[in-house]
Amino acid sequence: MKVLVTGGAGFIGSNFIRLILQKYPEYHIVNLDKLTYAGNLDNLSDIEDNPHYQFVKGDITDSDLVDRILEEGADAIIHFAAESHVDRSLYDPGIFVKTNVLGTQVLLESALKYKIGSFIQVSTDEVYGSLSHEGSSTESSPLLPNSPYSASKASADLLVRSYHVTFGLPAIITRCTNNYGPYQFPEKLISLFITNALTNLSLPIYGDGLYVRDWIYVEDHCRALDKILHRGKAGEIYNIGGGNEKTNLEITRLILSKLNKPESLVKHVKDRPAHDRRYSLDCSKIGAELGWKPETAFEEGIARTVEWYASHQSWWQKVKSGEYLEYYEKHYLYR
Ligand code: NAD
Ligand code: TYD
Repeated sequence: MKVLVTGGAGFIGSNFIRLILQKYPEYHIVNLDKLTYAGNLDNLSDIEDNPHYQFVKGDITDSDLVDRILEEGADAIIHFAAESHVDRSLYDPGIFVKTNVLGTQVLLESALKYKIGSFIQVSTDEVYGSLSHEGSSTESSPLLPNSPYSASKASADLLVRSYHVTFGLPAIITRCTNNYGPYQFPEKLISLFITNALTNLSLPIYGDGLYVRDWIYVEDHCRALDKILHRGKAGEIYNIGGGNEKTNLEITRLILSKLNKPESLVKHVKDRPAHDRRYSLDCSKIGAELGWKPETAFEEGIARTVEWYASHQSWWQKVKSGEYLEYYEKHYLYR
């Protein structure tokens, strides 16, 4: 099988490529990635010489490039490439529309042209919007995105749906909860807080810290995508979750205790505008239809993640320099 992975130099995409090449060494992977601030070839340095792996630096909005890649043939596209951070979408919504909406449409168009057998849109629980303390979103819940990030992902999901319904493109949408684990760019809650704590920097809690997310260990998400690649049904949507709903304060305390760091590192800062209170998914469909469930207990996943960041300081210290520091200085003044 030949698979085009977009955004494979990012956090989830790189974990996915590694899993696929380990499990199916005969498969061919083409990784199309623009290498934005979040894309990092160090994430895949262990497989860069694998003859079954090819990296193409480029932008998914470049339709000529996407056509040239798909002309060579592919059985499936797994589409991870995106601007992925809510906070950044508050400062620069335009790039979210360009990459997440227009980029997805370019890929859909080319997938149709070259009759690709399966298009998997890797989306997020955030498209369902904020929930109060009860209930979970199912695949048929309404889309009520609140941030430019989630609105751009919901828009892309609707385009994917339309290419399936109108043109018969064999497309599937997946919606996953918050991922954590190795190779996550240190701007999301868990990766930022572990790396800050390791260097005794403060951990900025937005608002009251009682916001709830469901956390999934990245390998569990990748295993779900593997099932969907091989057994998912075209036209379907699959929710994917970890079954670990936690407040941000709970996560923060756990990280501090694993690293033996004091609570005094916690700093309460201004809240994120339109901060979604809670996300929660009903994942019974993927369990019943594809037999997938998460395997990594939260305590175990966090222990592994903390250990990974503690033993890969050069990976994140290189990332947390230069452009990263300039960006934070410019945009996150309240820290
Ligand atoms: P990430 O930010 O770590 O990686 C994104 C990758 O896409 C980077 O390698 C970047 O260089 C690449 N990219 C960005 N713009 C591009 C463009 N125009 N052309 C080509 N490549 C481009 O993101 P992630 O956390 O790995 O998320 C991957 C996907 O999963 C995203 O679509 C995201 O919406 C979705 N998702 C993420 C989470 C999460 O918790 N991280 C949860 C659910 C869904
Ligand atoms: P994040 O990792 O950005 O994911 P998302 O907003 O896409 O769910 O944030 C997870 C939660 O942690 C969210 O409620 C915002 C909060 N948060 C902080 O309190 N401080 C921070 O520095 C960050 C990055 C997030």
